[in-house]
Amino acid sequence: MTFGVDFPSTFKPRESFDEGESQNLKETWGLFKETIASDEAGFFYANSNKELRGDSKRVFEKFRHKKYFVHVGIGGSSLGSSTLVEALGKKDKKKNIFFLDNIDPEETYDLLSSIKLKETLFYFVSKSGGTAETLAIFSLVLNQLRQEGIDKEEWKDSIVCATDPNSGALRDLVNRYKLDSLSIPSNIGGRFSAFTPVSYLPALFAGIDIDLYCLGAEKLKKSLLDEELKDNSLLKCALYLKSLKDSKRINQTVFMPYSSKLKLLSSWFVQLWAESLGKKNSFSKENVYEGLTPISAYGVTDQHSQLQLFMEGPRDKCILFLQIKSFKHDFELKSPFEEEPFTKLNPHSLSDLMRAEFRGTLRALEEEGRPYIHFTIPSLNEETLGMVILFFQSLTVFMGQFLEVNPFDQPGVELGKKFSFELLATKKEEEKKSHSKEGFTYV
Ligand code: PA5
Repeated sequence: MTFGVDFPSTFKPRESFDEGESQNLKETWGLFKETIASDEAGFFYANSNKELRGDSKRVFEKFRHKKYFVHVGIGGSSLGSSTLVEALGKKDKKKNIFFLDNIDPEETYDLLSSIKLKETLFYFVSKSGGTAETLAIFSLVLNQLRQEGIDKEEWKDSIVCATDPNSGALRDLVNRYKLDSLSIPSNIGGRFSAFTPVSYLPALFAGIDIDLYCLGAEKLKKSLLDEELKDNSLLKCALYLKSLKDSKRINQTVFMPYSSKLKLLSSWFVQLWAESLGKKNSFSKENVYEGLTPISAYGVTDQHSQLQLFMEGPRDKCILFLQIKSFKHDFELKSPFEEEPFTKLNPHSLSDLMRAEFRGTLRALEEEGRPYIHFTIPSLNEETLGMVILFFQSLTVFMGQFLEVNPFDQPGVELGKKFSFELLATKKEEEKKSHSKEGFTYV
């Protein structure tokens, strides 16, 4: 299979189960299949929805003349898109694609003052259509456009939105100002939206083939759904992580691709894993405080940073390595020097060194008796990234089932959002009372 999965010889997943366990596994498997086919979870089959791709391509054709593309969204409404652009975007195109996923005034200023607003397409992405950060940037961009002489009649030449097809503040604005828009299906939430227009439009601007990206996911699907459970890599990985947690209290998951281009994939994984699995209440009990803590890393750089901790620190981590077997570009390391350590490098290429460092790390972990899962893809391209993304989305949902939590909601985040709006309202009241413009502190 193109997407390889392997385990350390010293720390293999269990392969035999008694009758009761096998029955439980079959039930969990059945539940997973039910979940991905249900109305609640649209993510698993989104890649085969041609309409979502077609709509994105139409919008891209209309705006492809724009020199700059600014994606505004936060959390799941940004991370899948920036991961894709960072990993696969064409060099000359991605230099004009920007992601505003924060409300830092300095960063916002730097970006807006470095581009020509009239030559920019702003892409506002919010599934709920009501996220304060995204709407705040929306408002200030409108002010900036006005200062450039672009008034509401012309907003449609500079703005496209992606949001829920039917509801939310952003959808209302789309309708009111006749803006172009793309739909995020109602049953797909932010962190599961990597196969929707949320990612498709920026990917098209970055010169990425979204059909191949979706094809990759499609190709993997067959093996994900393999009924031969003992060979099913999704089930094996989920079982491995679950048994490490139950029997060894290993509850931290490090995600470590060996690739700079996949650095953001680690951030994407962190958000997906944390927001989906970290829950106060399970399906049947309150106050269980469930979760697996994700840690973002990338090789080889983190070999000189976090790896020391992973190797010798607390025995509470499992590392998910992602290795790219072959790189598109490579360099010979032959030098004119005939002394150590150059003589060791001379016969090799840069990718040989990366491979050796990776293999060395695996060996050292094995010797230390540390658990890991070793994922491989033959090379980094649209198809393989599509596979990787669908695999980890599916693994997250599967783990949600094992941990008995709902991977699709985020009540903690929602509570924070609610309190922020309440505090803003309090501030307005206080200002009214004191007629003062001075700052204030929340405590
Ligand atoms: O993954 C999620 O559901 C969240 O991280 C959301 O994407 C994030 O809170 C932004 O929400 P929205 O897309 O509604 O603006």
